[in-house]
Amino acid sequence: MSVLSLATPRARGLMILTAHPEGCRVLTQRQIERARAAFPAPLAAAEGKTALILGSTTFGYGSSIAISLKEAGFTKIIGVGYETPPAFRDQKVAIAPAGWYLTEALHRTYPEQRTYFGDAFSDETRDRVIDDLHAAGERIDLLVYSVAAPRRTHLEETWTSALKVVGEPLDVVGLDFKSGEHKEVHLEPASEIEIEHTRRVMGGDDLALWANALLYADRAHPGFKIASLSYIGPDFEPLRRIYWDGALGAAKKHIDATTRSLDARLQKRLGGSAFTCMNPAVVTGASVAIPAMLKYIADYLAVVDSGIGAYDDPLAVGIGFAHALYGAGEKGQGEAWREMLDEEGRLRLDANELVPETQTPLRELWETAQPGAVAPLTARGLELFKKEFMQLYGWEVDGVDYEAATDFAPPLGEKEGVVHLIE
Ligand SMILES: NC(=O)c1ccc[n+]([C@@H]2O[C@H](COP(=O)([O-])OP(=O)(O)OC[C@H]3O[C@@H](n4cnc5c(N)ncnc54)[C@H](O)[C@@H]3O)[C@@H](O)[C@H]2O)c1
Repeated sequence: MSVLSLATPRARGLMILTAHPEGCRVLTQRQIERARAAFPAPLAAAEGKTALILGSTTFGYGSSIAISLKEAGFTKIIGVGYETPPAFRDQKVAIAPAGWYLTEALHRTYPEQRTYFGDAFSDETRDRVIDDLHAAGERIDLLVYSVAAPRRTHLEETWTSALKVVGEPLDVVGLDFKSGEHKEVHLEPASEIEIEHTRRVMGGDDLALWANALLYADRAHPGFKIASLSYIGPDFEPLRRIYWDGALGAAKKHIDATTRSLDARLQKRLGGSAFTCMNPAVVTGASVAIPAMLKYIADYLAVVDSGIGAYDDPLAVGIGFAHALYGAGEKGQGEAWREMLDEEGRLRLDANELVPETQTPLRELWETAQPGAVAPLTARGLELFKKEFMQLYGWEVDGVDYEAATDFAPPLGEKEGVVHLIE
């Protein structure tokens, strides 16, 4: 056993450089217990099914959906995520990323799970997943596309996404993680090239490659579903411009269009369906990277903490997702999700975020924000945000003894169901 005591994280602003292995394990176990309580009995329609989840390894939407589906009755989850093992460099220990320990904890509870640590955008990873499905005689019932990445390499070209607006520049008041103060954020418009590069990274091209590969290889069961995760947020101009009407939103609109065309094919070929899920804003590695999103989510947490509305964390959304896809629905006819589609055919899991009860105070906090000291409500929101943020790395988890030695390099290889594809 390789043990080490890690009392405090090494951090650089919003970059936490060291995860806490035991904190990650405890958090994963708590999530499993929460999901178990949400599904006291398996959902009949989920039983025996297999999901492939791309982007399953961090404390974000992918792992939450994985845990929820498993507890709802799925037999097997196959996950893909970009995680590197712990290493020894220059006589120093490099702790693995949080997702490595989260995956270890998942595999301990679910020994039949298979996870690929590899680049989801590479042909090598896709081919290996499909070859293994062939070799095991397995087919999948559900593909969840939950990858969030800053860059993508395909056919030896690399594209980087731009977190910029489209059209005119935008000045907003954001929240500074370190100082806890409001500060001006200036967002430049993305060029046509940057918009296209963002689309290549976060648009639907990669989803289409995976869907086509699975269909051509005959690795999907009748009724096969594809769910790609997205965000639209409130109809509130600055926020719309930052996300849905910005460069990232253009990519998300492309994934929407890809999903729609896949839907037509799946219906015809397998009696299946493909749709986008509009998920709510939550604290994850992906959301903190988006300018001014920190302020919006911190204010959201504060408003809910003050007794208004509700905040669904990724696990609550994962549980809602499993109920929507495989629960009986209000009319008791199964396929609850069909009753939850909006006019564009998107599954709406973001209702709690968007209700006017929550949005009215949130908008007020945006509109009155001035650079400098923040209102007590926003300060409280930042405190809540920071705790959730630290937990993404296994820190500030209640009940964990951070002075105690923790095993940072337990075995996690083929025997445990994990395939390492990163050199
Ligand atoms: N966080 C939010 O507020 C929010 C809201 C709505 C929708 N979403 C969407 O949910 C999806 C998941 O985002 P998240 O917030 O859970 O983020 P996250 O950062 O927690 O998860 C991203 C996942 O992608 C994986 N990944 C990144 N690059 C990869 C690569 N090259 N190969 C393999 N795996 C790779 C990571 O390992 C991780 O498992 C995204 O589509 C995002 O747009 C997020």
